[in-house]
Amino acid sequence: MSDANANIPHGFETLAIHAGQEPDPLTGAVVPPIYQVSTYKQDGVGGLRGGYEYSRSANPTRTALEECVAALEAGARGLAFASGLAAEDCLLRTVCKPGDHVVIPNDAYGGTFRLFAKVLDRWGLEWTPAQSGDADAVRRAIRPGQTKVVWCETPSNPLLGVADIEQLAGVAREAGALLVVDNTFASPYLQQPLTLGADVIVHSTTKYMGGHSDVVGGALVAADAELGEQLAYHQNAMGAVAGPFDAWLTLRGIRTLGVRMDRHCANAEKIVELLRGHKAVAEVLYPGLPGHPGHDVAVKQMKAFGGMVSFRVAGGENAAVEVCNRAKLFTLGESLGGVESLIEHPGRMTHASAAGSPLEVPADLVRLSVGIETAEDLVADLERALG
Ligand SMILES: Cc1ncc(COP(=O)(O)O)c(C=O)c1O
Repeated sequence: MSDANANIPHGFETLAIHAGQEPDPLTGAVVPPIYQVSTYKQDGVGGLRGGYEYSRSANPTRTALEECVAALEAGARGLAFASGLAAEDCLLRTVCKPGDHVVIPNDAYGGTFRLFAKVLDRWGLEWTPAQSGDADAVRRAIRPGQTKVVWCETPSNPLLGVADIEQLAGVAREAGALLVVDNTFASPYLQQPLTLGADVIVHSTTKYMGGHSDVVGGALVAADAELGEQLAYHQNAMGAVAGPFDAWLTLRGIRTLGVRMDRHCANAEKIVELLRGHKAVAEVLYPGLPGHPGHDVAVKQMKAFGGMVSFRVAGGENAAVEVCNRAKLFTLGESLGGVESLIEHPGRMTHASAAGSPLEVPADLVRLSVGIETAEDLVADLERALG
């Protein structure tokens, strides 16, 4: 946005299209070019143009994405990574050291759990799972003086649990810990955790932010500029940055985030309607349902309830697998948040790494990422798959 406009408050969609994305000063190109370059000519030793010296440290296309993500999350600093897990790893190794402790959710993306249980555990980072929707349980899991981070996903992957961000921010603050919120499922269009007191946002931008299943990426957004600077230092020191083309693709997706999310939410509601009345379905997990234990909190902190829907199949594990195999328009695959609908069996796919752990998921669970196709076609496909 031009300097003249910088102090005028803007709506979400305006920020998504303009924040960090001034027309190129050289040519007037209206979208940021892909600066596919590793190094930059210096005008004399140390004479950098715009602060760019080497593309691990900073790259103009990545800067555009980082500024845009920071604006959408109402944060002080955004940083873009090669994947969501790279962002998580950078965050944890910036704010923790061996011997520290983290409270992790008892429902979370399997890869996040694997990072704690199989990688950072060996580095000496201790962790305790607690139900993020129960602030007292989180408080009990805190080890005074040792707990540095309270981590939550809301809504969570794959059980669609909801945590009260404002309340957890208070619990973390009392303990002198940071509240980290993985905002991948909601996206900043539906929920802005930093405005509710969270300290850092994590994104797998692979999902709704990118939105087209064509790029893997991650992001961190810090509420505080000083923490943002420490994260930026480690981003450069550890090196798992987003490449220019990946940053460009992600930014291209972000420009339509608002309109896509509206349709994801509307389609998900139609799918929930079908599932609720279906005899092959034992339980529907969706924060928009009044009977969902986190519904009231979701109403308070989210604009709408998102495009992710999970359900338990009455016939058990094999029946759940069969539903996944029979679906056609819902493509059988991992990941989520793209324009196309996906179906998966978390127990055998995305969350297989949590088997036997406190984060193990029910074997009869099916997870849907409801896309933005014609709603009637999606309903018909799922109806057929349910048999
Ligand atoms: C909620 C959530 N957080 C983080 C990640 C990790 O992101 P990535 O696959 O981009 O590394 C995922 C991936 O599925 C996820 O669903």
